[in-house]
Amino acid sequence: MARSRTLYRCGECGAVEPKWTGRCTACEAWNSLVEEVAVPAAVGVEPLGPPAAVPLPIADVDTAAWAPAATHVGELDRVLQGGLVPGSVTVLGGEPGIGKSTLLLQALAGLASAGRRCLYVTAEESAQQVRLRAERLGALPPNLWLVSDTALPHVLAHIGSVAPDVVAVDSIQTVFEPSLSSAPGSVAQVRECAHRLVRASKDRSMSSVLVGHVTKDGALAGPRALEHLVDTVLSFEGERHHALRLLRAVKHRFGSTDELGLFAMTDAGLEGVPDPSALFLADRRPGTPGSVVAPVLDGHRPLLVEVQALVARSALPSPRRSAQGLDSGRMALVLAVLQQHLELPFAECDVHTVVAGGVKTVEPGADLALALALASARVGLAVPDDLVACGEVGLGGELRQVHQTARRLNEAARLGFRRAVVPASAPLHLPGIEVLRVATLREAVDACTDELGQRRVG
Ligand code: TYD
Ligand code: MG
Repeated sequence: MARSRTLYRCGECGAVEPKWTGRCTACEAWNSLVEEVAVPAAVGVEPLGPPAAVPLPIADVDTAAWAPAATHVGELDRVLQGGLVPGSVTVLGGEPGIGKSTLLLQALAGLASAGRRCLYVTAEESAQQVRLRAERLGALPPNLWLVSDTALPHVLAHIGSVAPDVVAVDSIQTVFEPSLSSAPGSVAQVRECAHRLVRASKDRSMSSVLVGHVTKDGALAGPRALEHLVDTVLSFEGERHHALRLLRAVKHRFGSTDELGLFAMTDAGLEGVPDPSALFLADRRPGTPGSVVAPVLDGHRPLLVEVQALVARSALPSPRRSAQGLDSGRMALVLAVLQQHLELPFAECDVHTVVAGGVKTVEPGADLALALALASARVGLAVPDDLVACGEVGLGGELRQVHQTARRLNEAARLGFRRAVVPASAPLHLPGIEVLRVATLREAVDACTDELGQRRVG
């Protein structure tokens, strides 16, 4: 077979070069040339047939064929808002070892058990390895087909012979198009392979899921090359040392990107976590100074997290500051407000703060809980156990309300919390919980416990 010709196209201006150069000769952008397969000129001049689609009044457009197919993995269906839409292409991104292959196998098993024909293309592991994993997960339905291959033309041929409703390619970085000389995983390869798979999906009304590894800094490798090509981008996150895994939609053409899916990695694969707040608070020890519960929102989902602070006298000339799961910039801000407006000195202290359970909380709604935890740790007195705090701390020591306070407090009430400290400007009717309204951080500290307020250390 004759080798197809390749050319190099500038990602910035679209100019074409026969050879790779470090700088585009047309627009002078550096490092913008990407290899692609040259399309023979004859294809370009083929007569275009009559249009396949007919314009219709918008209300007459039939959507029945586009109903999402449930994967029966509850938390995945929650994030996808129903399941995989026929003809759609989804990228499942995440760091190596986070559980992408496991989630994919469970999803395909769910789809196959419900009667969809599924094809799992493994380009990283052998078919035996995947079968062994599937056995452990109890996922061996007859409708689930498995093949181990890495060459894109072969993958497309397998799709042709199995004619699946859903195909999964694990991973897009390890499949390659032989007519491109660049290495598998390069931008040119990833883009070309994804592009061909997207076309196959649209032509066959087949849903595709492409696994994509992300680099340390969180970008889908090659540099976001896939995001604009596909319908949905899912991001699977978590800390390797914690069992908790979070699934979010970064892009979703068939619904909102606000849903959060939560899983725990167990010996029997990924299990949905329907009540994460209870899980996060399970190990909380009442009566400990420096611990305050904050109702935060992740997308639409309210979560109760425990913010912990430890303040210890430092032996170092410049004391240590560490924030895990919290924004260190916000911690510095809250510390400055505590020093300036409440005369609580931290200058000679090491300060450590953590969100327990391996969750990340970067929203300003956790400021107040963080401030109360720091004050409580500094004076060595515990904040009452039945209390939650939510609000943003301003530079003047004032408190500002955060959005959806009612939703947050409902979740707190559901888990048995009886009091909530909120900014004075919070909405009037907050059901299910006693509300302590305060205008400033100083008032918040006083409201928590009188003793804590009086024992401000000078
Ligand atoms: P894997 O799905 O292979 O991750 P990825 O495809 O994202 O690289 O699984 C990652 C880890 O999960 C693996 O090191 C072992 C662990 N694991 C479990 O703890 N329980 C299980 O049931 C499975 C299948 C995997
Ligand atoms: Mg894998």
